[in-house]
Amino acid sequence: MKIEKPRGTRDFAPEDMERRIRLEKVFTDSFKRYGYNMIGIPTFEHAELFELKSGEEIEGHMYVFEDKKGRKLCLRPEATASVARMFAETLRSLPRPLKLCYHGPMFRYEEPQKGRYREFWQTGLELIGPEIPESDAEVIKAAYDPLERLGLKFTLEVGHLGVLRGLLEELGTEENAMAKIIACIDKNDQETLLKLTDDETLHKLIKLKGEKDVMEKAGKLLKDRPKAINALKKLAEVLSLLDLLKVRYTVNLGIARGLEYYTGMVFEIRAPGLGAQNQICGGGRYDGLMELFSGLSVPAVGFAYGFDRVIEAMESQGIKTPKTRIDAIVAPVNEEVRREALKIASRLREEHTVQFDLMNRKLGKILEYAAQIDARYAVIVGSKDLKEGCVTVRYMESGKQETVKIEDIAAALKRD
Ligand code: HAM
Repeated sequence: MKIEKPRGTRDFAPEDMERRIRLEKVFTDSFKRYGYNMIGIPTFEHAELFELKSGEEIEGHMYVFEDKKGRKLCLRPEATASVARMFAETLRSLPRPLKLCYHGPMFRYEEPQKGRYREFWQTGLELIGPEIPESDAEVIKAAYDPLERLGLKFTLEVGHLGVLRGLLEELGTEENAMAKIIACIDKNDQETLLKLTDDETLHKLIKLKGEKDVMEKAGKLLKDRPKAINALKKLAEVLSLLDLLKVRYTVNLGIARGLEYYTGMVFEIRAPGLGAQNQICGGGRYDGLMELFSGLSVPAVGFAYGFDRVIEAMESQGIKTPKTRIDAIVAPVNEEVRREALKIASRLREEHTVQFDLMNRKLGKILEYAAQIDARYAVIVGSKDLKEGCVTVRYMESGKQETVKIEDIAAALKRD
């Protein structure tokens, strides 16, 4: 019987997983420097959680199902709503700012293509509590840092949904219509957008993209729209902090984001060479979401990387994550020394990545295997050496060997 994996899912071979684990560590180590702590959230939630404020775009792509008791559940399409729910349920009394991060699979029933999967991974963070521009700038920098450190080529675009929302409010647009307009802008669906609004200022605003001078143009365009101007000023403060932090960016007042909960600064990061699905990170400020679930008016801002897309961008740009190699393979040369060799391997594992020969192979074959798995050393355990409390350590690259006292093997594996 041939059963294949479901459409839009993937298997990961050991070498893929190795790379993924290393990249996850690059991200989470970097988040730690900013004081973020990892949290765990369920893979499925009540569907209502995402129906409330994530927007039609996400809702239409949700994996919704009923459990045996008839509860309407869904596989999480993203994590921010879950974090807001968790905040309301268990974290509301913790000291703020609350700095939380996560890494895990998300599920969206989308048409699979390169860079777009039905099961995909996000690595993200949420900063709960602060409202000042420094918090927006810090979150953008936290997204920017590890990508820079990896040496990835990417572009960062920053905008502000408050500008767009401010203008729409002043035009008397109702909440529902506003969500539809913002969704059209996000999808770049000009035709439907024109049907919903022909306001010239709005159509000009969403095309404003470029260097800082864009801000001046927007200021002129919105001069008699105080709500929008107020949001524009907030964006200007964030941009000036990004300058201070030496973050390279483009201003884009047409960023609308696909999720409905954003209220303020929004940003997107794209990587060249990925084709249509080139957005590797997205985020922004969502000041109303915490209140929706907790009743507490608590501002928040965050982002998530599309983890798979970052991996693909690195591959297409020829960037490798540093590899952790097998340090040593422990090779008993005969049956007599196997038990002692097993003890040696076990002790070495306190500090090193070690394999013990489990195939009962001859020494020549073990060394062949050691070369195949790219082990740095072979620790050869022979009867004669063992009698003197020694083993032979072979440096696989050069073939050089030395006799080492058992208690000194760990140190010898650090040489070269
Ligand atoms: P999002 O833009 O919907 O935002 O998703 C974040 C990232 O996930 C995207 O930039 C993209 O790289 C990746 N992504 C989305 N859909 C797929 C897919 N089908 N296949 C592969 N990758 C995908 C959010 O989800 C927000 N929760 C981000 C956030 C956190 N905002 C504030 N805090």
